[in-house]
Amino acid sequence: MARVAFLGLGIMGFPMAGFLARNGHEVAVYNRTRAKADAWVAKHGGKAADTPKAAARGASIVFSCVGDDPDLRAVTVGENGAFEGMAAGGIYVDHTTASANIARELFAAAARKGIHFIDAPVSGGQAGAENGTLTVMCGGEAAAFETAKPVIAHFAKAVTLLGPPGAGQLSKMVNQICIAGLVEGLAEGIHFGLKAGLNMKQVLEVIGKGAAQSWQMDNRGKTMIDDQFDFGFAVDWMRKDLRITLEEAKKNGAALPVTEIVNAYYGEIQEMGGGRWDTSSLIRRLRKA
Ligand SMILES: NC(=O)c1ccc[n+]([C@@H]2O[C@H](COP(=O)([O-])OP(=O)(O)OC[C@H]3O[C@@H](n4cnc5c(N)ncnc54)[C@H](OP(=O)(O)O)[C@@H]3O)[C@@H](O)[C@H]2O)c1
Repeated sequence: MARVAFLGLGIMGFPMAGFLARNGHEVAVYNRTRAKADAWVAKHGGKAADTPKAAARGASIVFSCVGDDPDLRAVTVGENGAFEGMAAGGIYVDHTTASANIARELFAAAARKGIHFIDAPVSGGQAGAENGTLTVMCGGEAAAFETAKPVIAHFAKAVTLLGPPGAGQLSKMVNQICIAGLVEGLAEGIHFGLKAGLNMKQVLEVIGKGAAQSWQMDNRGKTMIDDQFDFGFAVDWMRKDLRITLEEAKKNGAALPVTEIVNAYYGEIQEMGGGRWDTSSLIRRLRKA
């Protein structure tokens, strides 16, 4: 069993860190808002640290799941950041959805201190974090990945090394591109069916057994019909992911016409006050129209 640290106890990080404690690891946690760290310790034991550096001291693996590039920079190389507290040979596994650039930048900064950095964004949402069934897309070196993999597996059903530093983040961008257009299609289908007077829950039961089936349909379809949007992955985060993705596409020349349109639609959801609604709230735009 390892001494590990977890930085960022949000919707995702809180339950993910819990699986590490439940599987016998000694866990030190850090959260910017201290109350969440105290709540985590009250539930799982371990200890709460005042800074990322203090949490990381003595840990063989340090995990993080914060918001965006600047947040990740703050907890790693910022003042009292984790890299200051880690010893050479330690492994840093970042589960934030961030840019591929920052993954490469932190891989290099970590390497200068003899630390191994793995970018490891996740898919599977709040439910995946709470059930320990996330899909983890990794970029980095094979040896460090093999060491970290069984520990990551405590909260994941699949943990895969997809290439060099940044490859995890690039794979997560592919994931978000695939989701963006799909959610809009699902929203339009449900909206149309309701306008047509169909029993849409029954329709989804039926077409969900055919070629239209998707994770989004299975998990969000009925809640979209019920106009409920409190299921974890916030629109604000999706906009961040799509911004990062569209910036990367500008660099690599990929054409993403539908992703651009859906990104603008999510902007409208934010203007409607829905920044913290979950991403299936695209249907609200259609209902408003
Ligand atoms: N929610 C999902 O379904 C989902 C799915 C896949 C991937 N993700 C990704 O996972 C990451 C976390 O998502 P989440 O839903 O868990 O978000 P969240 O609930 O908003 O939690 C964000 C966490 O990051 C911390 N944080 C933010 N900025 C920080 C800073 N500058 N310094 C230190 N800590 C900071 C927050 O601390 P405070 O408590 O102080 O605010 C909080 O612990 C995001 O990159 C998101 O895109 C989320």
